[in-house]
Amino acid sequence: MRRRIVALYLVLAVIVSALISYTTYRYAYDMYINEVKSSLQHEAVLISYMMKDMKLDDIGDKYLADISEAVMSSFDPNTKAGAKRRITLIDPAGDVLADSYGQSLTMGNHSERPEVKEALAEGIGADIRKSETTGLNLIYLASYSKSQSAILRISASLDYIINIRNTIILYEIVAIIVAMAISSLLAIKLSNYAIKPLALLVKKYGRPRKENLKKGRREDEVGELSYTLGAMTRDIEEIIRELKERNARVDTIINSMDAGLIAVDNTMHILMINPIACKLFGLSGASVQMGVPLVQVIRNRQLNNILLKTIAGNKVINDQINLYQGGKRILSLHASPVYPMDKKEANIGALVYIHDITQIRKLEEMRSEFVSNVTHELKTPLTSIHGFVETLKDGAINDAKVASKFLDIIEIEADRLRILIDDILELSEIESMKEENDRQPFALLPLAQEIESMLNNAASEKGVTLHLQIDPHLILKANRHRMKQLLLNLVDNGIKYNKPGGTVTVTAEQAGSQVEIHVKDTGIGIPLDHTDRIFERFYRVDKGRSRAMGGTGLGLSIVKHIAQLYGGSVRVMSEEGKGSDFAVFIER
Ligand SMILES: Nc1ncnc2c1ncn2[C@@H]1O[C@H](COP(=O)(O)OP(=O)(O)O)[C@@H](O)[C@H]1O
Ligand SMILES: [Mg+2]
Repeated sequence: MRRRIVALYLVLAVIVSALISYTTYRYAYDMYINEVKSSLQHEAVLISYMMKDMKLDDIGDKYLADISEAVMSSFDPNTKAGAKRRITLIDPAGDVLADSYGQSLTMGNHSERPEVKEALAEGIGADIRKSETTGLNLIYLASYSKSQSAILRISASLDYIINIRNTIILYEIVAIIVAMAISSLLAIKLSNYAIKPLALLVKKYGRPRKENLKKGRREDEVGELSYTLGAMTRDIEEIIRELKERNARVDTIINSMDAGLIAVDNTMHILMINPIACKLFGLSGASVQMGVPLVQVIRNRQLNNILLKTIAGNKVINDQINLYQGGKRILSLHASPVYPMDKKEANIGALVYIHDITQIRKLEEMRSEFVSNVTHELKTPLTSIHGFVETLKDGAINDAKVASKFLDIIEIEADRLRILIDDILELSEIESMKEENDRQPFALLPLAQEIESMLNNAASEKGVTLHLQIDPHLILKANRHRMKQLLLNLVDNGIKYNKPGGTVTVTAEQAGSQVEIHVKDTGIGIPLDHTDRIFERFYRVDKGRSRAMGGTGLGLSIVKHIAQLYGGSVRVMSEEGKGSDFAVFIER
């Protein structure tokens, strides 16, 4: 590469200086020739004038030699030998009449000499050539005088100018050599200047191995650079591809998070917002533009304040906000400052992680409500038992009749506690199950018959008749114990909340992939505004009545959870004073 540049500069220097030398030389030469020509012309005029009164025959070689001498000294006192004039007189036919060199007799016919021909035609003629007689480079000027009918020819040597030319050529060669030296220096400097950054780049990136440079390609710095750039391009492409992949991965992660995520810069403009955050604040994801102020998109003062505080205070903030968007929602916010990769002091914005904890809060509330309900439910029979035991100890034990009555009550209360605890255990067991693993096929009718015999006494006491309308071939695949619990609770309710002379009818039939079981009674029914709540734990329409009949308030809750365990549901249709119809749907 460097060699090429230097060579190029040298060639350029030689061409330019040669061109300049040639043109100056040419110009000087032409000028000098013209100068000589015009002085010869002047000389010719003078000599013609000197000879104007002479007869041609009188003009001999000697005379011309004298004139030549005279002219030379008058015109150019410094004339050197080479510049000596030769004067020749020629007649129009070309014969030499006289010659200052005294050779008129030996000189041949001159009619074919170019200057003579030209003079005859135009009055004046000139030519430059080597003299046949002297062998010198000469310039000839011929002037034709018509009055004298003779041609006066003066010739002068050009050796002087040839000497000058040689000197010029010498100078020019020196100039060319100097120009070459300067331009080589410049070329080396320039190529260093041009190539150094390329070389540095190549060095930084690792020099390509010779065999890696493509065949037929340049092997100099540019070749190496082209290889290096190729390698760099491939590396950059690879980096871009990796970055794209990483971006896509991050996007996927952020978008599939089950929490909302919003990032803002320190001027509170949105940097990123994920689909869950959009959903939580009721935004359609497509309408949210990055880079717009957050307040313009989400008009929530609390959220804004938390982010502002996080950025200003450079600290993590945990808080909760309530949203009233399609019902009350409770959001937990975890806001933290976002720092640049390198330093930790100044944040460049903030990130808030948003979790919808409405459901969790609801469950928490339900749990604590349940605990207080259980405590309350347990306390009542215990207080009762405690009271009767105290009374017995105080002396009632001595009265056999009273004592027996009190002990009966204590037994009933203890039973109630046992039933309550059984129900609570049953419920918590079902609730903790995700699905039923213990499924066995069994016929529903025999199960219903078992329940019938269990509840027969209670039914006849109440004056209620039980009807079973179940296909004996109807087979269920479920946990028999749980299905028994379900039916027992419903039929028990049907009897308990019935009227004397009423009926309870159990029907069951297949409906597609499900079995539809109905427990229908002709009892007191349920007021419309309670039908939604009777499946809640401990919820009773008439607390006193339920308690009086030994109810725990957990029966329907157990029914609902069992139905759900089998991928089904339970519904109630009821008319106050007329009766209720509980429908259970269960996947077979
Ligand atoms: N068949 C029914 N007829 C009328 N009311 C009913 C019937 N079944 C349930 N209920 C009402 O629903 C409430 C909840 O029933 P349940 O959960 O079985 O508790 P419990 O029977 O122990 O009171 C009952 O207290 C009662 O008020
Ligand atoms: Mg019940």
